[in-house]
Order: sequence, then structure tokens, then C-alpha cells
Amino acid sequence: MALTTKFLLLVISLLCSVDAYKILVVISLPGRSHGILGEGLVRHLTNAGHEVTYITPFPPKNPPNNTKVIDVSDNNKTFKGDLLNLQNMMSKRADINSMYVMIDVCLEVLRSTVANHNVQNMLRDPTQKFDVVISEWLYAELYAGFAAVYDCPLIWFLTVEPHWMVLRLIDEATNPAYSTDVLAKYLSTPLSFVQRLGSLYDRIYTYYLYHSFVYNTEEEIYNKYMVPHVNSQKYTPLDVLRYNASLMLGNSHVSLGEASSLPQSYKPIGGYHIERDVKPLPDNIKKIMDDAKHGVIYFSMGSNLKSRDFPEELKKKLLKFLGGLNQTVIWKFEEELPNRPSNVHIVSWAPQQSILGVNLN
Ligand SMILES: *[C@@H]1O[C@H](CO)[C@@H](O)[C@H](O)[C@H]1NC(C)=O
Ligand SMILES: *[C@@H]1O[C@H](CO)[C@@H](O)[C@H](O)[C@H]1NC(C)=O
Repeated sequence: MALTTKFLLLVISLLCSVDAYKILVVISLPGRSHGILGEGLVRHLTNAGHEVTYITPFPPKNPPNNTKVIDVSDNNKTFKGDLLNLQNMMSKRADINSMYVMIDVCLEVLRSTVANHNVQNMLRDPTQKFDVVISEWLYAELYAGFAAVYDCPLIWFLTVEPHWMVLRLIDEATNPAYSTDVLAKYLSTPLSFVQRLGSLYDRIYTYYLYHSFVYNTEEEIYNKYMVPHVNSQKYTPLDVLRYNASLMLGNSHVSLGEASSLPQSYKPIGGYHIERDVKPLPDNIKKIMDDAKHGVIYFSMGSNLKSRDFPEELKKKLLKFLGGLNQTVIWKFEEELPNRPSNVHIVSWAPQQSILGVNLN
């Protein structure tokens, strides 16, 4: 009898320990596309039975079971107004290709996230435990601090193609002579001699920027908002933590990016955010697509950039060009366009995945 009970207890305890983890997911950049990537991660993890705490500026209306949402929608305030405005970009008043601007914005988002009272409340809770932290890389490695607070492994999540700035965290930086990155001036390889020099210069400039500015700012934020919650015996400087990730998940796929050497700890998972069950098209768009005799072109500037901010002249030229095509055009545009050719259809919102018909079944 006693033996049977022990056996039963053993079986039950084994069943209870089937690989369900408590996972902290931190995706904090207040851009809708990052929100979609974050939701995809949470969906996969909770579907696999894990318990997820999700720090996000886009709290989902119906979070999946097993999900606790930590709302950092205040991060929206850190996007200083007009950075993602098409007009400002085209006139070069806002330069998101500038490393300096990008870093400045990201540091503000990082600070805003860890200073947020919802996050501070979580960090303060001594009963809160995590088995692993999955955190977005945002041009700085502050979030490695979460792994220190919870004394658990860290997984970096990269929203773009892998590049030298992140690969140096888990392996070694790629050679500037034959690799580029998202902010580089020269995006396609092979580089000419002059381009190689430019690439090397960019690399040196970025090193300088990090050592003169980013690391100090980051360390200051880490000391102020995270270190007070780290067990004092386990205190580790951020400069050690940033290199201590166990894995990096990347929103990339070899078919879409540059072929570069990648370490085993980098796992490309591009496409994972696409839902298996593509929702049916709404009637109005279905009709437009069914009636198209020469195929359909889908035109969208995404959610952050607004087509309505195109200069008038450019809108007119685009309309003229699109009107000359045989294909039916579906343009995600925020307002009605006067003098619109008959093959161009405006929709204020477009179910992108359904239009592109990505059907994985
Ligand atoms: C680095 O990560 C491993 C795995 O999570 C952990 O055991 C180790 O304590 C970490 N090292 C430091 C210095 O934080
Ligand atoms: C449109 O289709 C017609 C007939 O198939 C063809 O002759 C013409 O070149 C096409 N125009 C364009 C812009 O593709």
C-alpha cells in the first residue's frame, strides 16, 4: 500500500514537471509591428502550455489563458512625435537611418519600460519567479538585467536580420568588409573598396557612440531601476550580463536576407508570427479580389507610416502610375483619394495576411 502511494506520488510529480515554464516576454517598442511579433511569441508559448508574463505597450484585449499582461502603454509617449512621419522622413527632418537618433529613441523606450510602475511592481514582488526571460534587443542590452533579477537564463529576441551588433553578443561580430546591417548606408554586398571603408568608418563610429554614451546611460538606468531588485549576492554588472544570453531567436529567414555565418545559438524563426488559420477576407475586399482579371497588387506602408502623409505631388504621381497598370490595386490609405482610377481601391484597414493568402495548412 505504502509502496503504491509512493509510486503514485512519483508519477504525479513527474506529470507535474512536464516542461511547462514560467516565461517573461519583454517586447516594448511602441510600434505596431513589434506588437504583432510579441503577440506571436506569446501565442506559441502559451499554446505549448507555458505560463507567460508579457510586458507590452499593446495590451491584448483577450490575452490567451496562462498569460499575465504588464501594461507599458506609457511607452507610446516616448516616441517623440514626428519621428515616424513620412513627410518628415522624406524631407530628412526625421532621420531614422541615423544611428544616433535610433539609439536615443531606444534608450528612452528602455528607460520608460523599466521605470513603469507596473514593471516596478512586478520587480518588487518577492514571490515572482521566472524560468527564462525572452527579451527584445533594442540597440542596447538593458533588458539583460531582467535575467539578473530573476537569476534565470536569457534569450535575446531580434526583430530584424542578424547583424554584427547582436552577433557579437553571442558569437563574434561579422567582418565590416563583407557584411552590412539594417542601418548601414550600403545594404547590399559585395561592397566596393570605398564602401568597405565607409562600412569600417560606420563601425568605428558606432563603437565610439556606445563607449562614450550608450553604455553609461544604460548602466545608469540599470543601477537605478533594476539593481535594487537583484539579490545583492548575485549582482553582476550589465557589461557581463549582455554577453550571457543562452540563445538568440531572430525574426529572419535565410531566403530573405544576406547569407552570413551564424552561430548555433542563433535560431532564425522568421514567419512564426503568421497565424496558421488565415481569417477569411471581408466581403468588400473578397469581391475586389475575385473581380480582378489581371491579378492584384497590394500596397501598404505598414501601420506606423501613413500614406496620407505623402506629399500631394507624389500621391498624384502614384495614382497616375497605378492607374496605368492592368492589375487591380488595393491601397491601404487612411482617407478617400479624389480622382482615383477605377482599378485602384482604397481600404482604411487591410487584413494583410488574408490578402496575401498565406495558407500554411
Ligand atoms: C549566465 O547564465 C547562466 C545560465 O542562465 C547562469 O547560470 C549564470 O549564472 C549567468 N552568469 C552570470 C555572470 O550572470
Ligand atoms: C495590359 O494588358 C494588355 C493586354 O493583355 C497588354 O497589351 C499591355 O501591355 C498590358 N499593360 C501593362 C502596363 O502591363
